[in-house]
Amino acid sequence: MRIHRKFTGLVAGAAAVSLLLAACSGNDSANDNDNGGGGGDAAGGGEVEVFTWWAAGSEKLGLDALVGVFEEQNPDITFINGSVAGGAGSAAKDLLQSRLQANDPPDTFQAHAGAELTDYINAGQLEDVSDLYDELDLRDAFPADLVDRLTVDGKIYSVPSNIHRANVVWANPTVLEEAGLDPAATYESLDDWFVALDAVEAAGKTPLSLATTWTQVHLLETVLLADLGADAYSGLWDGSTDWAGAEVTAALEDFQKLVGYTNTDRDGLDWPGATQQVMDGQAAFNVMGDWAVAAFEEAGKVAGTDYIYFPVPGTDGVFDFLADSFTLPVGAPHPDGAKAWLATVGSAEGQTAFNMAKGSIPARTDTNPADFSEYQQTAIASFAQDTIVSSLAHGAAAPIATLNGIADATSKFTTGASDLATFQDELVAAVG
Ligand code: GAL
Repeated sequence: MRIHRKFTGLVAGAAAVSLLLAACSGNDSANDNDNGGGGGDAAGGGEVEVFTWWAAGSEKLGLDALVGVFEEQNPDITFINGSVAGGAGSAAKDLLQSRLQANDPPDTFQAHAGAELTDYINAGQLEDVSDLYDELDLRDAFPADLVDRLTVDGKIYSVPSNIHRANVVWANPTVLEEAGLDPAATYESLDDWFVALDAVEAAGKTPLSLATTWTQVHLLETVLLADLGADAYSGLWDGSTDWAGAEVTAALEDFQKLVGYTNTDRDGLDWPGATQQVMDGQAAFNVMGDWAVAAFEEAGKVAGTDYIYFPVPGTDGVFDFLADSFTLPVGAPHPDGAKAWLATVGSAEGQTAFNMAKGSIPARTDTNPADFSEYQQTAIASFAQDTIVSSLAHGAAAPIATLNGIADATSKFTTGASDLATFQDELVAAVG
């Protein structure tokens, strides 16, 4: 079945934005949250605290590249790195929540387009940045359906920096050959892939490397996508697919089987540790978003020789999408610094430098594909032609509370504290 290209699972705007978001720029002295910095941006000086989870490794290299462009464009503004380590924002999002609750926001923070952003919008924590879109001519720079995901009630709440693909397998061709497998082989379905995973197991290597809970949720979402298909997967987020149904049970059985092929130290690793096992030849395959390509490149690995990649079996033709974006929080101490950061994030120069280092593709549609790696060129082509679905683990498909519930249920299951039926019941409850 061919499904037409579309973004699915769009979370509609909600009423809570009736909270008064005063147009506060230049008005910081009247703001109780003002910690003295707001007016300091005048005359081009000042600072900007940028809150991300790009704290180390290839992710930090991506941030560094963006900061390089920012500093060139804004020599008078001091960049303050507010990054908090932990893949996919596993620690950052909790800390951010406490800072927002305590009226101590950073000047700008990273948030995923889609449901995660809607959470912050509905809580009245973000300023409308539509004026900046007009000023910088950004409305036409990004795909219209992406701008939709950043918009609620006609207001736009962040500037996207990139687009990542979540449903990618990374593999070590040498390990495959040693297991008697053809590195050029493609696997139509998870069942086909299981045969290859068995061969690697028989050869004494880890068939599939995996890391801590959020990467397990990431694997789970790709298994749901493979087994249910794009439409029914998207239906998980709009209520049209039954989480208690037999199709989901079958997908959970496949997930259980896949987890059985993984390394036992998984809960002690973040994503770079699992990717490293593939680089080092300890493991054959890893399922990870395409930020992994930046880690391979950082390690000097060569595509085709040292590593190969393909869509998660059963998901070819589907692009499991997520986008990072940057916000202007209500009460940001340095709104002018934040706006300067958003301008860099939205610029063609900023997007090119950042994405070359990050492994993602630019959100802007006017950059030059030739500037990007071979993998990224395949992602650019796929994004243009595939069916687009929303990533669960990376904030596009479901609100943070739902994701947290799914993560808790997943962790219980993979650590042996629940059986498959309980896991499914807990997923039903988490999605509510
Ligand atoms: C995602 C984020 C990516 C990458 C990844 C691993 O949530 O969107 O940019 O950083 O986490 O940390």
